[in-house]
Amino acid sequence: MRHFKAVIFDLDGVLVSTDDYHYHAWKKVADNLGIPFNESVNHRLRGVSRLESLDIILEASKRELTKEEKLSLSEEKNNYYKAYLKNLTPNDIDKKIVLTLQQLKDKGFKLAIGSSSKNAKLILELTNLTSYFDAISDGTNIEKSKPDPEVFLKAAEYIAEEPGKCLIVEDAVSGIVAGNKAGMKTVAIGYAKTSEYADYKIDSLEELLNIV
Ligand code: BG6
Ligand code: MG
Repeated sequence: MRHFKAVIFDLDGVLVSTDDYHYHAWKKVADNLGIPFNESVNHRLRGVSRLESLDIILEASKRELTKEEKLSLSEEKNNYYKAYLKNLTPNDIDKKIVLTLQQLKDKGFKLAIGSSSKNAKLILELTNLTSYFDAISDGTNIEKSKPDPEVFLKAAEYIAEEPGKCLIVEDAVSGIVAGNKAGMKTVAIGYAKTSEYADYKIDSLEELLNIV
């Protein structure tokens, strides 16, 4: 029996291609430092907070950095990233994605965002997506990022829904793990399809309508 009442979406790499911007911004930081960084390392940064992402990138370097240096590098990355965000408009969202969100709403599902990003609200505004969501749980309201379940549990709390009635949509392996830990069912799209723990795998967002 279909029993979902809510769908909680990751943002970067699921609704918006900002995962590419994250990659290119980190690539500039890594290149400045002379640290090797490529798309396969980048997959490990999906769903992970800014500072934790930097620690993963620094695994390829022998340099020991102070906390202040790390803060300054993560700020530098965010500045590069925000420069890319300036180009973001509603036209960057696939029409099929907007239609899927509207169809889910019309069917009575509550919709929420569950993103580790502190830029999530800005991105939703720039792309005109804010009004589709009943709640936004993001990097500004959590202590621990994915694979910790906190961001999804907070989203469920904000929409007053039981975790067991929530379906997670994720492109990050860390997000699939977080969804499982939260006691929610998970749908993998993009890179998350490599995870053996996803309950469902889809190639495009419209397929969600066959799952709910
Ligand atoms: C997640 C991304 O959505 O947000 C990660 O998948 C990113 O790659 C994290 O590190 C934090 O984002 P921000 O915008 O707060 O630096
Ligand atoms: Mg993502």
